[in-house]
Amino acid sequence: MNARITPAAAKTDLDAFWMPFTANRQFKGQPRLLARAEGMHYWTAEGRQVLDGVAGLWCVNAGHGRREITEAVTKQIGAMDFAPTFQMGHPIAFELANRLAAIAPPGMDRVFFTNSGSESVDTALKIAIAYHRARGQGQRTRLIGRERGYHGVGFGGMSVGGMVNNRKFFASVMLPSVDHLQHTLDIGHNAFSRGLPHWGMHLANDLERLVALHDASTIAAVIVEPIGGSAGVILPPVGYLKRLREICDKHDILLIFDEVITGFGRIGKPFAALEFDVIPDIMTTAKGLTNGAIPMGAVFAQRKIYDAFMQGPENAIELFHGYTYSAHPVACAAALATLDIYEREGLLTRAATLSPEWQEALHSIRGTPNVIDIRNFGLIGAVDLEPRAGKPGARGFEVFLKCFEKGVLIRVTGDIVALSPPLIIESKQIAQIVETLAGAIRETA
Ligand SMILES: Cc1ncc(COP(=O)(O)O)c(C=O)c1O
Repeated sequence: MNARITPAAAKTDLDAFWMPFTANRQFKGQPRLLARAEGMHYWTAEGRQVLDGVAGLWCVNAGHGRREITEAVTKQIGAMDFAPTFQMGHPIAFELANRLAAIAPPGMDRVFFTNSGSESVDTALKIAIAYHRARGQGQRTRLIGRERGYHGVGFGGMSVGGMVNNRKFFASVMLPSVDHLQHTLDIGHNAFSRGLPHWGMHLANDLERLVALHDASTIAAVIVEPIGGSAGVILPPVGYLKRLREICDKHDILLIFDEVITGFGRIGKPFAALEFDVIPDIMTTAKGLTNGAIPMGAVFAQRKIYDAFMQGPENAIELFHGYTYSAHPVACAAALATLDIYEREGLLTRAATLSPEWQEALHSIRGTPNVIDIRNFGLIGAVDLEPRAGKPGARGFEVFLKCFEKGVLIRVTGDIVALSPPLIIESKQIAQIVETLAGAIRETA
């Protein structure tokens, strides 16, 4: 063992679980255990009620403990626990694909199932590269991501992603042919914008720079989040996504939207592609697809992409890709029940109705010490805090802990607070989130 590594003393029964994206030692010294959830709330193991300001992890869009999902899952696991989808099929997988195609952006009616956002991203990247090969352009293998993008933790998603902490340990094993657009967060020009910022559409022209550098004939796809979430809510300037689409079209490059957080109503339409009226070639989703209840992801492709694969002998497998649990029947049941709830309760568009109130409430925090920017769109919000000198992330983490003590779950990325409550939120809960957050920020001055 490396002499500089101090073995940790085994302290508690929390030791065995190596927690993801977590300061394990801090957590295990001061655990925050959630034991129950219903509607807009969690309850801690001690029985304390906590308002969920982040829909779990941007996924519980219809709120917690939805009885219809529980019943659908229970029924399905009783009827058929598992069935393969390699050279076999089961009816609700097809039913779900049809239901998704019906709410998808125009033409995006071919659906490939995965188990997570990371798998959706890696699937989309592989489909993009294989698509070009299928139509005789196998030299198009380069992928373009964006600085500060987050596309999960697979080798593909990590490589096109642009969050330095996620990348630096793995620098030498990234995918080789990847480049990155500059990101669009510019507080200097856009601080406290309400909705999309008006400055920065020209940043999309950075794609022309990369095309000039690499030549379009080597580039398979560009992948961006329409609204970046995990890196701290990064909004596209007005016109930016349309410009990206134009440049991709001009050079025959596929455009992939990673809608893992923007999908399923988060910004007031079923998908951001519909809200921004920019239709990608491929779209990745997960999270809200099953309301977070069962892991599942889905990749939507334009029909032209699917059709490009449907060539050659009919008994030949067209795409050598898939997961044991692609279209797992229990996940399909959860997703169908979730879609029923979304449709019955109008949740795929509710964020549009709530967003003016959400915006006003969030921007009321302006003027609180150390708040350097506030951003919002749909039911997404971010409050950017001035980092403590020499201690990036410290203030953000303190605010996170204080909010939790005060009964509100938020999320922080460094010193950026991100908010994304369940889409069933009510006015008094919006007020509670904002008042609690403002108080926590004041107390950590
Ligand atoms: C845009 C985006 N893509 C991909 C992922 C990865 O999803 P998962 O954690 O389900 O693998 C996330 C997760 O937050 C995400 O926000």
